[in-house]
Amino acid sequence: MSRIAYVNGRYLPHRHASVHIEDRSIQFADAVYEVIAARGGRLVDADMHLARLHRSLAALEIAAPMSDAALGTVMREVIRRNGVVEGFLYLQVSRGAAPRDFAFPRHAKPGLVMTARRHRGPAARLIEEGVGVITLPDIRWARPDIKSVSLLPNALGKQQAKAAGAFEAWQVDRDGNVTEGTSSNAWIVTSEGDLVTRQADAGILNGVTRLGVIGLLRREGLRLVERPFSVAEAKAAREAFLTSTTNFVLPVVSIDGTPVGNGHPGSITRRLRQAYEAYVAAQAGAP
Ligand code: PDD
Repeated sequence: MSRIAYVNGRYLPHRHASVHIEDRSIQFADAVYEVIAARGGRLVDADMHLARLHRSLAALEIAAPMSDAALGTVMREVIRRNGVVEGFLYLQVSRGAAPRDFAFPRHAKPGLVMTARRHRGPAARLIEEGVGVITLPDIRWARPDIKSVSLLPNALGKQQAKAAGAFEAWQVDRDGNVTEGTSSNAWIVTSEGDLVTRQADAGILNGVTRLGVIGLLRREGLRLVERPFSVAEAKAAREAFLTSTTNFVLPVVSIDGTPVGNGHPGSITRRLRQAYEAYVAAQAGAP
């Protein structure tokens, strides 16, 4: 099945899908996006992703390109036309195309792009053995809570992780505290068994997976503490893991080469991965 993209009202062959060269996403990264998982051909937590999309749009004063009902129809259609049972939907809204000028154009129409991709999630080996992360300074702008396509620092960080043989880079603020990964949220489990993740302030993206996991904690009898944690605390933690739409819950077993706990995925992390998979499966369509 050949891939189909949605671009400003049209369903196009993926390889011919393009936006105008003066779309403001290109010159100014003036656009926001969402990545939504599909399971059993259904979108996972689409309502939470749409809520976050609206928050990002409002923060940047970009108008919604269409109603939520219409967006939902296009989102499902893109998944269907691409035959995606298990994979991801990418959705991007830009301020639109206009002659280059820093101030907002008066009459630009928001641009809407969607693509879908089949993907099975992280390799079983990564889930079973866990992954390594490196740490590096968080050099992003002061509003990573807005899911904008201004992702150059994230791309540079991920590349540094890759070059170091690590899976992800955990970004560190000026106080020495971990903010989040380049494309995931960061978590640790303390020696008391508390789940610690940074509070969702302007310093991190409030992940939909993060919120999903938080929703499961009480049922699992686990205590959540939303606060900053330092790199030193993370290295000395009992367990660590990351969360994202593309990885769900993934164990982190080393930080800058230092093993976390015994260097193997922890029992709480494994339990949470299972609980989150069940939570997703409950939303999935029939296989
Ligand atoms: N990234 N933090 C950052 C900086 C992210 O880019 C992401 C997601 C997350 C996790 O958010 P969520 O649980 O809603 O996926 C946290 C997506 C997957 C991406 O850009 O591909």
